[in-house]
Amino acid sequence: MSKAKSSSDNARNVLMDKIVSLCKRRGFVFQSSEIYGGLNGCRDYGPLGAELKKNLKDYWWTRMVRDRDDVVGMDGAILQNRRVWEASGHVGTFSDPLVDCKETKARFRADQIFYASAVIGGESHGYVSVTESPTMAEEAEQKIRKIQKKGGIKGEIAALEMEPLMEATPEEHALIPSPNSTEPGTLTEPREFNLMFKTYVGPVENDSNVTYLRPETAQAIFVQFKNVCDSSRIKIPFGIAQIGKAFRNEINPRNFTFRSREFEQMEIEYFCRPEEGLPLLKEWLETRLKFYEEIGIPREKLHILDVPEKERAHYSGGTYDIEYEFPFGIQELEGVAYRTNYDLTKHQEHSGKTLEYIDQATNEKFIPHVVEPSAGVDRTVLAVICEAFDEETITNEKGKEEVRTVLRFSPRMAPIKCGIFPLLKNKPELVAKAREVQEVLRPHMNVFYDEGGAVGRRYRRQDEIGTPFCVTIDFDTIGENGPEAEDTVTVRERDAMTQERIKIADLLTYLLERVR
Ligand code: GAP
Repeated sequence: MSKAKSSSDNARNVLMDKIVSLCKRRGFVFQSSEIYGGLNGCRDYGPLGAELKKNLKDYWWTRMVRDRDDVVGMDGAILQNRRVWEASGHVGTFSDPLVDCKETKARFRADQIFYASAVIGGESHGYVSVTESPTMAEEAEQKIRKIQKKGGIKGEIAALEMEPLMEATPEEHALIPSPNSTEPGTLTEPREFNLMFKTYVGPVENDSNVTYLRPETAQAIFVQFKNVCDSSRIKIPFGIAQIGKAFRNEINPRNFTFRSREFEQMEIEYFCRPEEGLPLLKEWLETRLKFYEEIGIPREKLHILDVPEKERAHYSGGTYDIEYEFPFGIQELEGVAYRTNYDLTKHQEHSGKTLEYIDQATNEKFIPHVVEPSAGVDRTVLAVICEAFDEETITNEKGKEEVRTVLRFSPRMAPIKCGIFPLLKNKPELVAKAREVQEVLRPHMNVFYDEGGAVGRRYRRQDEIGTPFCVTIDFDTIGENGPEAEDTVTVRERDAMTQERIKIADLLTYLLERVR
């Protein structure tokens, strides 16, 4: 492993730590139930995080539903009849392979463990294992060097070999220690672990009252397909969109909000004729890529994975994963999948109710096929924050160098659109005028009034939370320097830190043009 690689891995970890710390310090994301020690896999969004998340969901709804004639929305229940999850296949197969460490009792997803060994004289020696991460090769090497130091491996190491645990032979499995142990063979055989959270409906906790918290929002859409068709008279091809919570009892939640046990999805099931499936898959991929650009994630940071057939769900006729370059690696933001007519067919079989679509023009009956763009709200919020985060050295108002932390959110995502500052808090005319400006802007955008400290400090506080504009009300505004500048304000832009003098009468239009 080269030094350059290890220092860039280290830089990525440092960057992620800075982002997590900013998120807590400024009220974007907190650990859930923190005062009780937290709950693994769950996070709470603070005041600014809630605004950011709402901006994302609102924009998705606007672009995917309201701006289109061919998509309608719905809002399904989190709890559904258990038979929904039996028909969809989730009860039978929605699982991940789990392994336990016999020594420490820690649990791991078997498909996220890699094992490594040292090749000496053409043979493998000194097995170790690590969990999947951008730094795993380096970690494995360190572990092997430790064994070598203690005399556990002798001879010249020609190479290190690394393989997924799932591909180990039984003989190798018996020699592999768990990632947090050094004893060989401390991992149990993989077993399937269902990811759905089980619960009971009503006061009696028996088998017939069992149901599950939904692991995806999609199924309520399939189950209500007929009702939506009949009540809205919308014609194929058309989509049903939904935003809502989903729950998965992930074995290893990790990477901040990236893999959580409670999260939100934004999903569309787009119903079409069979022959339209594949062309629509490509069309939706483009639509979704454009969306990410519109919220400030540049195309060059997005990767498209054409999921190979053997890795796709058995019903999928094609799947693209849209991935983003997070500091912790290139990871999935959204799946765009052609689900054929699998789901509607299964629900028709299990419910005994017809879910066929009748073409009014030709009287033709068929079970529609489906293209599904399925995005994660929390992952997208995290990508937007990671993309926006920046630190730069600037010369401040006093001529001194300082590091400016700035979230360069696209203005439409920014939690607060405009900061409003009276130059001095003890000059009543300035305060009154600033409050007046606040009332002009408030009905149209989220604004924040701040009169505390030097204006430079106030700018810095807004930079750190990504506010694109700040307006300062000064002596010119209240006419103390003559009538010419009266009723004008200074508008300061976050990224270039440039300032412009704008008439209060033009301020709303000026800002709306830039934040919408
Ligand atoms: N209906 C299809 C479906 O649910 P998925 O790939 O399992 O497909 C879709 O999930 C999206 O939901 C993912 O791309 C991701 O953004 C988000 N997601 C899935 N599991 C998640 C988790 N544990 N934590 C956060 N987001 C998750």
